[in-house]
Amino acid sequence: IPVENIRNFSIIAHVDHGKSTLADRLLEMTGAISQNCETSQVLDRLQVERERGITVKAQTASLRYRLNNNEYLLNLIDTPGHVDFSNEVSRSLAACQGVILLVDANQGVQAQTVANFYMAFGKDLVIIPVLNKIDLKNADPERVAEQLKSLFDMNEEDILKVSAKLGRGVEDVFKAIIERLPPPPVSRNAPFRALLFDSWYDRYQGAVVLVYVADGTVKLGDEIVSTHSGKSYEVKNLGLLRPHEEPVTKLLAGQVGYLTCNMRSTQEAHIGDTLHHNNVSVSVLPGFKPTSPMVFAGVYPMDQSQHVTLRSAIEKLVLNDSAVTVTIDSSPALGQGWRLGFLGLLHMEVFNQRLEQEYNAQAVITAPSVTYKAKIFGEKNLRLYGKEEITITNPVNFPDPSIVSEFFEPMVLGTIITPASLFYHTTSDFSFADKYLGPIMSLCMDRRGTQRSSCNIDNHNVMLQFLLPLNEIVVDFHDHLKSVSSGYASFDYEEYDYIPSKLVKLNVLLNGNIVEELSTVVHISKAASMGRRVCLKLKDIIPRQLFQIAIQAAVGGKIVARETVKAFRKDVTAKLYGGDVTRRMKLLNRQAEGKKRMKMIANINLPRETFIEVLKR
Ligand code: GTP
Repeated sequence: IPVENIRNFSIIAHVDHGKSTLADRLLEMTGAISQNCETSQVLDRLQVERERGITVKAQTASLRYRLNNNEYLLNLIDTPGHVDFSNEVSRSLAACQGVILLVDANQGVQAQTVANFYMAFGKDLVIIPVLNKIDLKNADPERVAEQLKSLFDMNEEDILKVSAKLGRGVEDVFKAIIERLPPPPVSRNAPFRALLFDSWYDRYQGAVVLVYVADGTVKLGDEIVSTHSGKSYEVKNLGLLRPHEEPVTKLLAGQVGYLTCNMRSTQEAHIGDTLHHNNVSVSVLPGFKPTSPMVFAGVYPMDQSQHVTLRSAIEKLVLNDSAVTVTIDSSPALGQGWRLGFLGLLHMEVFNQRLEQEYNAQAVITAPSVTYKAKIFGEKNLRLYGKEEITITNPVNFPDPSIVSEFFEPMVLGTIITPASLFYHTTSDFSFADKYLGPIMSLCMDRRGTQRSSCNIDNHNVMLQFLLPLNEIVVDFHDHLKSVSSGYASFDYEEYDYIPSKLVKLNVLLNGNIVEELSTVVHISKAASMGRRVCLKLKDIIPRQLFQIAIQAAVGGKIVARETVKAFRKDVTAKLYGGDVTRRMKLLNRQAEGKKRMKMIANINLPRETFIEVLKR
């Protein structure tokens, strides 16, 4: 297929606006998969994606489509929809000339729609606006089209209206892709170069990398070089994803396909790398901004006998998810483990779930912490740390405040879209006449947010922007936002900057022993309330044991909160259920089952989930 007949595109959308459904329809209509295929949403391969209904790994499919007697090759590059994975969205877009911006015709524009739009807009991509779910009774394509026009300056006649579920209007999507998108700007005669934009681990083939061939041709057996590492490899397998792997003997400029070449580790499959032929010099393709983890957590085996299993599972998963960073860590209570860096909390939860489902490894995950910075002073301390500004990714390493002149914490710029309306009395003063807006504003204030802007996006919806400390939103902000807005408000954020902040370390003590794994860093204004909440939470979570447990929260030497878990009597079941043996056995078995999920800390059995649950409000 000549380059002029190739189109590379992506579908971007807010969660649940129907991206996977549309992708399935495109696949069906090009015969890549059969209709009524039992496993719907073919591109969502991982079990966790099916369970949670979110796309985690970007997946790709090459589709053949005929229009006016011309055959086209349409490369669909799937992108994940959630904020935590926006780096994957950005990556996938590097291989595209255009995007389908899919918007639910009932829900309308949501926070991620805005973020995704600007990501594509910033890369100068052609944007095809598509309203989905027009079959729904409550769909209001006219209103949503108005939103697109007022927010993004779009033209009515460019907006397509489809039902991905019923396949209605989907032919127009193909037509728009072919007519509005340019072919990839590549040359087949130039020396080979390709952008490595994704990779995953395959048990049999090692690292499989996804490439976009930007120039020339690559063939089986070719000697290729990684610009990043300088290492050379022999090409072992090449193929298209349709979406199932279809081996080919060569990949041509403009195509997107997979390649294996005995790369063994994530470090080797460097996302954003330019691959080229040995002994040929080419200019490097624009790579990607390295993704920096925003949230760190310790991961430990349930018991040390599982250390090796867990290590190999983590290694394999990291091959599939290069956004995770790994360093070795150890903790007095939890033993040998790792400290992993994630893009956000959902990213962390998904990683944990994949560890369990795909590798059958059970792990204890400690309370997540964001990365703080501190400026230290005093000659001795400077020598000790080797620099003035230090980075703290683990509360355990929180420096003694007496040697710190200033702490800094990371902020994000959050966008919230919610049904509401703003009535402006004067330009500087406005009042809110709405049941969601008040609670949303209080939630953001309570999380130490400061409002940046607000505007109506139509008569019934408002977009708010807040500057928020990352540590306030990383755990359960999204859940709370959903609950105060009956599920209507949507949220997305982008990184902002570090700002000076009064931070303290909140220690948790169980029977007088500091449990580092439960300690967190908080803003000084939150220390007392957080301390009380953590103690109450722990009182709830920690099961009664044979002895009394004192739970305390402290800042420095000062106790800010205290709770007690009373001891329980040795044999509860004897009293309650007397002679009923089966009932008794059932209870005892359940208890034994429960114990497997417990971790002994300072002689106290803690459920595995404690470490994360403790931070939720
Ligand atoms: P993420 O992968 O989480 O970003 O979701 P998604 O955007 O891929 O959404 P998905 O395709 O999973 O669709 C979400 C829900 O909307 C599913 O229950 C679909 O059946 C439904 N849906 C998708 N398209 C349509 C449509 O055209 N009409 C109706 N009525 N429902 C649709």
